[in-house]
Amino acid sequence: MAALPTVVSSARSVIHEHHELRALLGEVEAALAPPGPQATGGPDVVAARLDVLRGRLAAHFGEEEKAGLFQQIVEQDPAEAPECSRLVGEHVDLLHQLDDLRAADPEARRRPSWVSAVHRFLGALSGHESRENEVLTRALDGSAGAPD
Ligand SMILES: [Fe+2]
Ligand SMILES: [Fe+2]
Repeated sequence: MAALPTVVSSARSVIHEHHELRALLGEVEAALAPPGPQATGGPDVVAARLDVLRGRLAAHFGEEEKAGLFQQIVEQDPAEAPECSRLVGEHVDLLHQLDDLRAADPEARRRPSWVSAVHRFLGALSGHESRENEVLTRALDGSAGAPD
């Protein structure tokens, strides 16, 4: 099945944003690692990077929803409906998880439970974006052999 032209351009732009988000997640992970002699890290650096991530992530989720990309994918292939609605539904929960982490005070950030919660959040966000990439790649694969 041919991918709709609007799906192709929106999907490529979202995949590009996912690369940028992955770099931000990498920066949070780097700050979580035990700091070496020259490395900067630790809970306060992690918290500052989570603050940066909050703005970028809210904009990213907003863009995915505003572009109507997932609705277009479902129009193209109704079998994608359950996964698309699950993915969009996860946005609110992921932002809540992030806000809970950001609400921790400096003392709470030094507890192993906070560090574990950051790892869990990063895993959940990374899994979310990977599953989106799978949906987007399937949608783009639909363009193979499509007439211009
Ligand atoms: Fe998303
Ligand atoms: Fe995304």
